[in-house]
Amino acid sequence: MPRIAYVDGAYVPLSEAAVSIEDRGFQFADGVYEVAAAFDGKLFDFEGHAARLRRNLAELSIDEPMSAKALELVGRKLLAKNGGGTALLYIQVTRGQARRDHPFPAVSTPTLVMTARGYDYAPRVKQQLNGVKLLTQPDERWGRCDIKSVALLANVLAKQAARQAGAFEAVLVEDDGTVTEGASTNIWIVDRNGMIVTHPAGRKILSGIVRDTLMRLAKADGLKVVERAFDVAEMNAAAEVFVTSTTALCIGVSSIDGTPVGSGTPGPVSRRLGALVWDEIARQTGYRPAV
Ligand SMILES: Cc1ncc(COP(=O)(O)O)c(C=O)c1O
Repeated sequence: MPRIAYVDGAYVPLSEAAVSIEDRGFQFADGVYEVAAAFDGKLFDFEGHAARLRRNLAELSIDEPMSAKALELVGRKLLAKNGGGTALLYIQVTRGQARRDHPFPAVSTPTLVMTARGYDYAPRVKQQLNGVKLLTQPDERWGRCDIKSVALLANVLAKQAARQAGAFEAVLVEDDGTVTEGASTNIWIVDRNGMIVTHPAGRKILSGIVRDTLMRLAKADGLKVVERAFDVAEMNAAAEVFVTSTTALCIGVSSIDGTPVGSGTPGPVSRRLGALVWDEIARQTGYRPAV
């Protein structure tokens, strides 16, 4: 089945989908994006993704290309055109096309591109059981990590370093040792008091949609969650460490920089939270992974 993309109002074969080389997304990374998951063709937590996109666009003074409702309709149609199933929906909005010049153009129409591709969560289920490896890397990003900007070079370099070291994810660490988040995940620890801890929302991290959902689910389950900064030493000594994101969901960490975390396999809190996220996916979409 040929893949179909959505570009500025038209559904086109992926091989023919294109934007101008003068698009400010290409020239300046002047744009934002979202990645949402669909299970059995049904979008998961889409309201959160649409709300974050709206907030990010407002931060950059880029006009909303369409309402959240319309975005969802197009997204659903695009998923169906690409065969439905379990898939990732990418939404990218840039300030649009203009003669190359740093200041905002006087007039520009935002570019909206959406793509969908099948995504297999089976490896994630396995990783939830066995855990994944992390590699620490310096956090070399800009000062507005709360904006899901398409400028991902620092994240790309950190992720590449992790993969070259055989690790699943890079943990980004500031000069003073503070752990912010992963290259494309939020990072959590279970501290010595049994508290679930993650870096506070704000300019230093992208506040994940799964992060929000997990916080809500954990609290409803009677678990204690606190948003506070922690450093590498505390992370390395934590009872458990886990990562969350739309593509990872919730995965326990087995080792960091080659040193085991806890017993070296995902602990009870990581496993419980992983199961709660799957329950929430089932509640919203009816989908359950084969085990
Ligand atoms: C830097 C960063 N942090 C956190 C996340 C997790 O966000 P979400 O849960 O919305 O997928 C992502 C997702 O791509 C990310 O790129």
